[in-house]
Amino acid sequence: MPASAAPAPRVAGRPSLPCYAEALQLSPSGAMTLSWLAPNPRADRSRPYGPAQQRVVTSAGVSDLAAGMSRCPAHRITPLYALPGLAARLGVESISVKDEAQRFGFGAFKALGGVNAVYRHLATLVADAQHRTPDFEALMSGKARAVTGDIVFTTASSGNHGRSVAAGARLFGYRCVIFLPAFASAEKEAAIRQRGAEIIRIDGDYEAAVARCREVAAANSWVVVSDTSWDGYDRIPADVMQGYSVLAFEALQQFRAATGAAAPTHVFVQAGVGGLAAAVIGTLWQTLAAARPAFVVVEPASADCWFQSNKAGQPALASGDATTAMGGLACREISPMTWPVVGDGTDWFMTIPEEAVAPAMRQLARPEPGDPVIVAGPSGCSGMAALLRVAAEPTARSALSLDARSQVLLINSENANGEPALFEQAAGMTAAEATAAMSHSPR
Ligand SMILES: Cc1ncc(COP(=O)(O)O)c(C=O)c1O
Repeated sequence: MPASAAPAPRVAGRPSLPCYAEALQLSPSGAMTLSWLAPNPRADRSRPYGPAQQRVVTSAGVSDLAAGMSRCPAHRITPLYALPGLAARLGVESISVKDEAQRFGFGAFKALGGVNAVYRHLATLVADAQHRTPDFEALMSGKARAVTGDIVFTTASSGNHGRSVAAGARLFGYRCVIFLPAFASAEKEAAIRQRGAEIIRIDGDYEAAVARCREVAAANSWVVVSDTSWDGYDRIPADVMQGYSVLAFEALQQFRAATGAAAPTHVFVQAGVGGLAAAVIGTLWQTLAAARPAFVVVEPASADCWFQSNKAGQPALASGDATTAMGGLACREISPMTWPVVGDGTDWFMTIPEEAVAPAMRQLARPEPGDPVIVAGPSGCSGMAALLRVAAEPTARSALSLDARSQVLLINSENANGEPALFEQAAGMTAAEATAAMSHSPR
């Protein structure tokens, strides 16, 4: 399918095999859908990327931000890998994986967000006082402290975002306190501590950690650098998403250079609160307009806040308690400010079961002959899990028009360091062994 003819959601046909029947349900309009795959009734390919969307994510300034990052000695554009062997097996034209596990040696795309938001908060304070915006190096010199005074940065996080905020605070020399939910792994906690932040563990889930972080921050005048938004709080989450949009900008350029095509036809993007999805959908929608790909937002079945919000037509809670191995996606509530982009711009919402994680991790780590080895954590591999699920289900394939002309883009959003035991169990080798195998595998 040419990029300009990305599929609009359409009603799936009635499957002929009885085993599909239990997975089918009637949508309010009477159309047949799978219970884990739902079209967006608001999706409209001709809808322009308007002011409501640009308030969430704008591609203006992304190339400058990418250029600024490239001046950092640790920075490398993360690779976009082609998986021709898997594409042939699944009957699609191409599969590309943007490997954010290699971002800054940090291990996740989150490196782009928290650091950028801390930088922009400090830069705005200095610019307000001195009428010129300092660059990264100027802030790192510590001279800005005369203007900013002592600031304590804080956030709630399932692990990766907290590590990014901690890295930003340390880079510019400020104190940082991270609130972690009970489920965040010991490895993720250790990686945050290594970046100099203090940890407060909450005996509860991600939403409980967000609530406690807000209370303590308000009582102590700390600066919350959250990746999720709430009423009256959206400037900093917008800065976080602006950082993420660099990966979408890079991926499109890499995709064009590698394939000669204008854009992928399908993008599977995993969602927790929706910041990553907003950055990817927003950047590609604004850049490609009606020629944008079909966007499929992927969530764990127990943390399906976007799936439920799509059904409700407005922000709604997840149907489950967000207990999942996919810790980065373990959210019961969406980031409300992202609705104009994710709520209106997504074509399909889908969920994946927990059992889909290990096979997807394994598929990436032990790929088809000729495909590169990719090391992914449980949230990182969820886009692959979704693609495998859709490709194996004729009703879903046909609904998404996934066929021999499809060019699919996935994002490996994290490495396996946060959940090493899970990776080893799934892949039959350690993350270190898989990482070593990467250098010998095709690139
Ligand atoms: C590895 C990983 N992937 C995806 C996500 C989802 O991002 P968002 O919460 O912005 O939707 C997260 C969030 O923490 C994450 O850590």
